[in-house]
Amino acid sequence: MRVVLVGPPGAGKGTQAQFIASNLAIPKISTGDIFRYNVSAGTELGQQAKAFMDRGDLVPDEVTIAMVSDRLLEDDAQAGFLLDGFPRNVPQAETLRKLLAEWDARLDIVLELVVDDDEVVRRLSGRRTCRRCGRIWHILFEPPTRPGLCDDCGGELFQRDDDREETIRHRLDVYQKQTQPLISFYADEGILLGIDATGPVEEITERAMSALRRFMR
Ligand code: AP5
Repeated sequence: MRVVLVGPPGAGKGTQAQFIASNLAIPKISTGDIFRYNVSAGTELGQQAKAFMDRGDLVPDEVTIAMVSDRLLEDDAQAGFLLDGFPRNVPQAETLRKLLAEWDARLDIVLELVVDDDEVVRRLSGRRTCRRCGRIWHILFEPPTRPGLCDDCGGELFQRDDDREETIRHRLDVYQKQTQPLISFYADEGILLGIDATGPVEEITERAMSALRRFMR
């Protein structure tokens, strides 16, 4: 199954992606995670992306598309994948469609996580991420048992540089202008499915899974 998760920053894409991908037994491919890994490893790709990420702007399409194309060629993505954070504008969506067509494939479904801006700010300002395994926590909504440490692997939790309030507002603006047009792009293709992404994490996963099951019938 080939799935795209779309939604504003802080909608819970990363949180839900880890559970949905595991339920569907497909790899989760998060462009944000790949960029952050490259920034912390100091690679050339990381150096290209860092300034854009720090400002909350999109990394240029040529850099992002080349990175995703390479990732989609890996063995584990051949039978399906869940994309988190890509595509993020119409040119990226058109390129993805062409790429998949070359492989005689196409997207099955685009799942939109719907939340309002105030909830986004509440979620992002309390987000903490495990430096070792990438698990996502929230200091109020999903706190780890021991503050600052991941329950799953004991790794140190950190706050992302782009989770400052002014950068969050800018990311929301970028989302409205550049990513929102994807909603009608995929609605026109008949593969868009929106779900309410407020409430407990497990309920949203259940909502997403039953929507996916209904859609695939
Ligand atoms: P990326 O990492 O993709 O950031 P984003 O889209 O802004 O999304 P976030 O990761 O901030 O939020 P999320 O929706 O995953 O929410 P999460 O699950 O963490 O991209 C970062 C940057 O990389 C971009 O700004 C750009 O520069 C670059 N980039 C990436 N892809 C690109 C592309 N395709 N093209 C160009 N540039 C690109 O949840 C947030 C918090 O809420 C967590 O603390 C979580 O615990 C909590 N939470 C989750 N669900 C709930 C719930 N139901 N109730 C309460 N709290 C919850």
